Formats: sequence, structure tokens, C-alpha cells
Amino acid sequence: MADALLEVNDLAVDFATRLGVVSPVRGVSFQVNTHETLGIIGESGCGKSVTAQALMGLLSPRTSRVDGEVILAGQALHSLSAKARRQRSGREMAMIFQDPLASLNPVMTIGAQIDESLRLHTSLTRSQRQQKIISLLTQVGIVDPARCAGAWPHELSGGMRQRVMIAMAIATSPSLLIADEPTTALDATIQAQILDLLDEIKQQTGMGIVIITHDLSVVARLCQRVVVLYAGQVVEETDVHTLFERPRHPYTRALLAARPSADHTPKTPLAEIRGQVPALHDLPLGCTYADRCPLAQPRCRAQAPELRAVGHKAQQVRCWRADETGVLG
Ligand SMILES: Nc1ncnc2c1ncn2[C@@H]1O[C@H](COP(=O)(O)OP(=O)(O)O)[C@@H](O)[C@H]1O
Ligand code: SF4
Ligand SMILES: [Mg+2]
Repeated sequence: MADALLEVNDLAVDFATRLGVVSPVRGVSFQVNTHETLGIIGESGCGKSVTAQALMGLLSPRTSRVDGEVILAGQALHSLSAKARRQRSGREMAMIFQDPLASLNPVMTIGAQIDESLRLHTSLTRSQRQQKIISLLTQVGIVDPARCAGAWPHELSGGMRQRVMIAMAIATSPSLLIADEPTTALDATIQAQILDLLDEIKQQTGMGIVIITHDLSVVARLCQRVVVLYAGQVVEETDVHTLFERPRHPYTRALLAARPSADHTPKTPLAEIRGQVPALHDLPLGCTYADRCPLAQPRCRAQAPELRAVGHKAQQVRCWRADETGVLG
């Protein structure tokens, strides 16, 4: 689509490690439009955070190699110098993380930290910045913004800290927000509030959001489209309705089956996906899911399937048997 806000084409990341070169992200492509929330899901270790770090230009060229195209609002970020890229991503792409305390400076007040970002990326005067800090904290639902601006990070609750991180992220009016497991550390009520806040900000500003999560309830609440990552590759991409109604990749289906259901009681243990994500230094020749897949056939182990459109909706699936899995129970 020509008017995609973010276009990621064939993103690949290699790390040099003691066990040799590993490739935790291998040929990942997706798009995000304005006013759209894209979910990236998958178990721990599937390459979600590395994908986000690569998009943001946060990976050190000394230890990693990033290939592929990242096009934000029509501009190819991958062809900019590291410095130009940081400047541009700092303004137009923002990121929030699971643990706000780790990203906040413990020896600076909240107000001073937001001010630093405003000074760096805007030309507002000191008094304009003071006003902006208060209005940003108000926008993220902090009831006493002046007091919060004067507080130290450790004085705030986890939910308040995440609100502050969101305020900092939207301070420069980015067109894209990347949120890496932003609510994983929060309890359910606060998690719901933060998700609602993200959705509200998206409606107000029109920005696109990429939300990384292993929690399907987050996807159901926030996302329009979803990319399922497995062992560093997209194994399924679809709209959120189809994800829940007609998932086709056996891994997506297993993720859905492993979801705690409403009737879950302590006596009915959670379904878990048997086996493990393959080790990066020892990836199988064929389908990376074959060792765990109940539908695996000899062909699956011999030859890796490509991502392809299956069914009548825009549903992309990386599985030899994708046409069959849509009709299986
Ligand atoms: N700096 C690094 N050097 C080497 N391997 C890394 C590095 N960062 C992440 N990895 C590996 O890349 C894989 C994907 O990690 P990550 O993207 O953090 O997974 P997740 O999907 O849980 O966010 C993991 O196997 C992880 O150990
Ligand atoms: S290609 Fe084969 S092993 Fe891989 S997910 Fe599909 S059926 Fe399972
Ligand atoms: Mg992660």
C-alpha cells in the first residue's frame, strides 16, 4: 500500500555470539497505517523485541548487523546515517517498554526528564515547555500533574510510571509508537487502563501503534491487525477478527488454545504448547515449527514453507498445510 505509515521489508538481524552468528529476525515484513494498531505476538524468544530495537535503530553496529528496509512516512530510514536516523526516529517514532523504571533516570524528576526530550526535539521556550509538561501529564490521565512533574520515579506506582513513559513518548508528537510488552508488569485493572489510554491517544492523534505482546487479550482489546512471529519469522499475518475466528498456522492455533479461558479454574491447568522454540544456532532445515507441530509431515522437515496468501481474506500463512488447517476443528 502506498500510504502506509510504516513499511518494513525483509528486516533481518544477525548477532555475533560465542556460538557463531545467530539470526533472531529473518526476513520480517509488515505495514502499519495511521490510526492503526498492529500487534506482534509470539512466545518469549521469538524475536519480538529485537524486531522493535531494529526498527528504532537501537542495535549497536558493533555487535549486530541489520538488513532490510524501514520506511516511515515515505522516508527510507535504513539509508540514513546513524545520527540522522536517531534524530528522525527520536522525533517521529517513540518506544515504551515493559519496565518503565529501567527507562527512567532515577536521579531526575519526572518533569525534568520530559523537559529534556522537549528541549532536544522541539523549539519551545522554557515556559512553553513547562505548560506542555503539565498538559502531557494531564493527557495521560495523571490527576495531579504539577505534583507528578516534581516527583522522583521511585515515588510513583507502576501504572503511574507507565503513564509517564507514555507522556514522554508522545511529547514530540510521533507518528508511530512502538510498545514492547507495555502492560506485562502491571496488574489486570491497571493494564486495562493503560491499554485504554493508548487507544484513546491513537484516536486523538491518529498515530500508528505497534504493540508487542504475548497476551492475546491485549490483541483483542487494541489491535486491528496481527503478525505472529515464530523463531524470527512471520508465520501468520491477518486481521484481528480472522485471527480469532479462523487462525490457520498450527502455531497460531496453539497460541489460541493455550489462552486462559473464562471458565479456567485452578483444577484445569492451562494448555501449554509442547516443546520449545528451536535454538537460534541450530535452526532446522525445514519448517521451524515441525518439532512441535501435530500436523507435521515429511515434507515439512525437508523444505521450509514460504509465507503465502491463503483463503479469501488478506491472510498470510507460512505452512504447507495452511489450506487444510482452516477447516480443521
Ligand atoms: N544482543 C543480543 N545478542 C545475541 N542474541 C540476542 C541479543 N538480543 C536478543 N538475542 C536473542 O534473540 C532472540 C530473540 O530475542 P527477543 O527479540 O528479545 O525475543 P522476544 O520475542 O521474547 O522479545 C533470543 O533468542 C535472544 O536470546
Ligand atoms: S509446514 Fe508442516 S510442520 Fe510446519 S506448521 Fe505447517 S504443517 Fe506444521
Ligand atoms: Mg521481548
